[in-house]
Amino acid sequence: MDINELNQYVKNCRKCELCKTRTNTVTGDGNINSKIMLIGEGPGYQEDMTGTAFVGPAGQLLDKMLASIGLDRTKVYICNVVKCRPPKNRNPKPDEVNACMDYLRMQYLIMKPKAVLLLGSIACKNIFDKDFSIMKEHGKERILKDTIFMPTFHPSALLRNEELKKPAWEDLKRFRAILEVNGLYE
Ligand code: URA
Ligand code: SF4
Repeated sequence: MDINELNQYVKNCRKCELCKTRTNTVTGDGNINSKIMLIGEGPGYQEDMTGTAFVGPAGQLLDKMLASIGLDRTKVYICNVVKCRPPKNRNPKPDEVNACMDYLRMQYLIMKPKAVLLLGSIACKNIFDKDFSIMKEHGKERILKDTIFMPTFHPSALLRNEELKKPAWEDLKRFRAILEVNGLYE
């Protein structure tokens, strides 16, 4: 399975209720051949309208965050836990996440990332464990089967709460250092 086939599967997916309210599915954006993966929560309004991940206000901030550590969308692949927008941007429900996670697993298998930046508590809870605390555990990377996972705040959280910008910047600097020592800058 390559990424185009997967995109096609997702486009036609009706495995959960979110298919009823979506405009477009949003599988992922950026460079699938990269070794750096970013995982957010789910599409918002602008992503649903365009079918592209992280293009609204949070996405614009994310682009700035990436630029601050010398990255852009040609150097990373960006995706989400769920591929269809939850109505009014509510959190995805557990059954929706369960239905959708196979697509993220496939993206992971296609890419085989070496470093993963987890954006926000929804991504961390679903990929690490449901008791994960973003306030306590952001910036503390974990290594799972040779891949480094760095949890940090979601850009939407930074837009809501300015005080998180400084700790998020510390996390990003640490992530950059990890990329450097692992030869992941190209
Ligand atoms: N928030 C997300 O988590 N993902 C997007 O694609 C946009 C906003
Ligand atoms: Fe399918 Fe995921 Fe969309 Fe649900 S959110 S319909 S599982 S693609």
